[in-house]
Amino acid sequence: MYKRLLLPLFFLFDAEQVHYFVCDALRFFYRLPLVPGLLRRLYTYEHPSLVQEVAGLRFRNPVGLAAGFDKNAELVDEMAALGFGYVEIGTVTPRPQPGNDQPRLFRLKADGALINRMGFNNKGAAVAAARLKSRKSDILVGGNIGKNKVTPNEQALDDYITCYKELYEVVDYFVVNVSSPNTPGLRDLQEKEPLTHLLRELQVLNLAQSKAKPIFLKIAPDLNLSQLDDIIDIVKETKIAGVIATNTTIVRKGLETSVADVEKIGAGGLSGQPLRYRSTEVIRYICTKSENAFPVLGVGGIASPSDALEKIQAGASLVQVYTGFIYEGPGLARRICKALVAANEPRS
Ligand code: FNR
Repeated sequence: MYKRLLLPLFFLFDAEQVHYFVCDALRFFYRLPLVPGLLRRLYTYEHPSLVQEVAGLRFRNPVGLAAGFDKNAELVDEMAALGFGYVEIGTVTPRPQPGNDQPRLFRLKADGALINRMGFNNKGAAVAAARLKSRKSDILVGGNIGKNKVTPNEQALDDYITCYKELYEVVDYFVVNVSSPNTPGLRDLQEKEPLTHLLRELQVLNLAQSKAKPIFLKIAPDLNLSQLDDIIDIVKETKIAGVIATNTTIVRKGLETSVADVEKIGAGGLSGQPLRYRSTEVIRYICTKSENAFPVLGVGGIASPSDALEKIQAGASLVQVYTGFIYEGPGLARRICKALVAANEPRS
């Protein structure tokens, strides 16, 4: 029903407006009696073999909602009812910011992909924190944090620290996002020296708390092998929890969509199926080269159970989806969970 009826209808309208409409509708229906239970019956799947211990946290299943979908932490309970094992909220910045001019989210239907240049539009870390205080479901929540556009890279650490403190009480893990292509200069923070400084200082703050929270680093798929080697060294040196691979790509290769149409869309990060192979490659490289020294969470182009399995076989401890959720609909997390259980069961 989703792919045959709803998706073609959604695709008649602007992608970002549809996103807000669907989120509002989901929040509205979720408040009606019986609906939460019905959604859970339809979309969640529980099995002991799905439970994953990663970075000292217990995930009820390994399929998460990737950052960017629920930037302001408005949908955690709803996403739990749609079968996700965890939700990564954000990216949030210390102060609210509008993001880039619209339109800034585009569909590449022939590719099962999206291009976005949202630019960290969000209501600020304090608003997200307040929302998270009132959530009811007990699924794990990650806080994906970034810097405001106007903050120069030399002062980026202050922004990450502000977000960390704002969210500390209400999230289970943190993600340092230095890999969005849509904040000018942000990806320069992935270079060895500034990144080591940023993560080291955050970790000092983290370890000074009564209970340190796992900190993950989210990386771009466009790093070369020597940059990936640097990332491995930095994660080991700063002793952060692990890596999330990957964010969207600025590369536009092998697309079905015509070059002219892609050029017309312009700048932004490409997500969805064209990203799948590269993201898996990055996961495999990091896991192999580091000899699985730390967990890697796999994201990029997962639109089916076999795509999720591919990431896990490459070494990912958990997976996340965004674009596949848009194209495949609300049953995706459950389908992946069921397939993972089946893949684990001994064949007779
Ligand atoms: C994203 N993504 C993202 N990532 C992040 O760390 N912070 C963010 O704010 C956003 N925002 C965002 C907006 C939109 C519209 C999209 C499509 C994506 C990246 C996302 O979390 C994920 O890493 C990539 O999209 C790759 O996964 P999929 O989409 O191929 O499953």
